[in-house]
Amino acid sequence: MNTLIKNGTLVTAEKTFQADILIQDEKIQRISSGLEADSASTIDASGKLILPGGVDPHVHLDLPMFDTVSSDDHYTGHKAAAFGGTTTVMDFVPLAESPSPAGRGVRGEGDFRYSLDLWLKKAQKAAIDYSFHMNLTQFNENIAKQIPSLREMGIQTLKVFTAYNGRLRLDDGSIFKALQIAKENGMLVMAHCENGDVIETLVAQALAAGHTTPEWHALTRPAWGAVEATFRMAAMAGQADTPVYIVHMNAGGEVDMLKYARERGVKVMGETCPQYLFFTIDNLRQPDGAKWICSPPMRTKDDNARLWEGLTEGILQTVGTDHCPFFFDGREPIIYEGKPVAIPGKELGEDDFTKIPNGLPGIQDRMPVLWTTGVRAGKITPNQFVAYTSTNPAKIFGLYPRKGALLEGSDADIVIWDPEMKVKYGVAMSHQRTDYNLYEDWELIGYPEKVFLRGRMILDGDAWMGKAGDGQFLKRGEGKFV
Ligand code: URP
Ligand code: ZN
Ligand code: ZN
Repeated sequence: MNTLIKNGTLVTAEKTFQADILIQDEKIQRISSGLEADSASTIDASGKLILPGGVDPHVHLDLPMFDTVSSDDHYTGHKAAAFGGTTTVMDFVPLAESPSPAGRGVRGEGDFRYSLDLWLKKAQKAAIDYSFHMNLTQFNENIAKQIPSLREMGIQTLKVFTAYNGRLRLDDGSIFKALQIAKENGMLVMAHCENGDVIETLVAQALAAGHTTPEWHALTRPAWGAVEATFRMAAMAGQADTPVYIVHMNAGGEVDMLKYARERGVKVMGETCPQYLFFTIDNLRQPDGAKWICSPPMRTKDDNARLWEGLTEGILQTVGTDHCPFFFDGREPIIYEGKPVAIPGKELGEDDFTKIPNGLPGIQDRMPVLWTTGVRAGKITPNQFVAYTSTNPAKIFGLYPRKGALLEGSDADIVIWDPEMKVKYGVAMSHQRTDYNLYEDWELIGYPEKVFLRGRMILDGDAWMGKAGDGQFLKRGEGKFV
């Protein structure tokens, strides 16, 4: 199947230029001006931008949490991603114990092969391409021995947590050893940075004092904990002499820590997410404040502004979503693809903020929202937009130049972007399987018009041609420090 996209303006992380693109089967075959191809179906992209498909490095699909599960699965979440211009997503695999451990696993301990197989099964309905990060939430000699086997499984990333005491957190010694093992095996550690001990203390004190409303979620997870833990992770990476990637950066001070460490040669990279650029603790004080509950929490206007500076000045490297949606009211069904769906959500914590499932929708919103508020508002260039939403995640996570690139030989994951399309955004336009949208009624200018996945058009305006099962698992190689 050949397609010729003519007269478009190509935007890459490095440059913007006019050219035609010839797609042959799954790949970009040629990029040049004046291309002709009799056998190809031709699309005139005059006035449109051609972007590499978005790469979202941070999503949680079908993730069990508290007494429910994140409400997008590996089909609905992928479909929503495509509607926002994203063609590759990276999900996190919870480390699970196998009833009969495979490989080097030990009974009663996490087993990477078993955990990955569970997630691969869930992802059989994938509609776009995907890969996984492994949550490293237990650490001992046996787990350490298993880590190199992840490379053979196509996984080169380990997420560690400095918070969630007694559940997900590792102590600093274990994190440091994980960094050393990552270095030896060409892998990358990703870190969730908050201070678990401080959070545990503040949550107990808040509950004892009868504070149960959503704002207490933010008040018990102070920004200083995120700043201190980000610096601690950077310092450990410096001491292990290996890169580290800080996920969902949310506090202005984290940007300062990143800058400080990078200027001193530490290979630390940072991701922020759109929600941290706009929203504050005041959103949690609204009657529907539970909609904004995620960890780390929303901060202040000053934090929003410093994160924007981090993007403008190139201190940060990526914009992911941390897409982990829940219904606001999971007792009321929504209609998704013609069928009623209701999944328990934020109402689970209506009397206690600690029981509100943590996470927000955003997989579709990311690129259109960032285009309007970043590129159109003059805060970032179109090339920075491509770098943050596609090229840098592909480079960091070992997919470049197959993904994240408009190059001959790259996968033909292509977005025809209409920079003038005006939309009134919100839940009615969203394919995220939840009952609310954080950007309700926002006026956006600039939106994906057509989306190709490995040469096949999966989206044309409102028409969805993607299918469950069409997405491929991407085994990733060694990534690059950017
Ligand atoms: O609240 C969030 N972000 N839930 C997803 C888990 C995580 O820590 O990223
Ligand atoms: Zn996290
Ligand atoms: Zn996350």
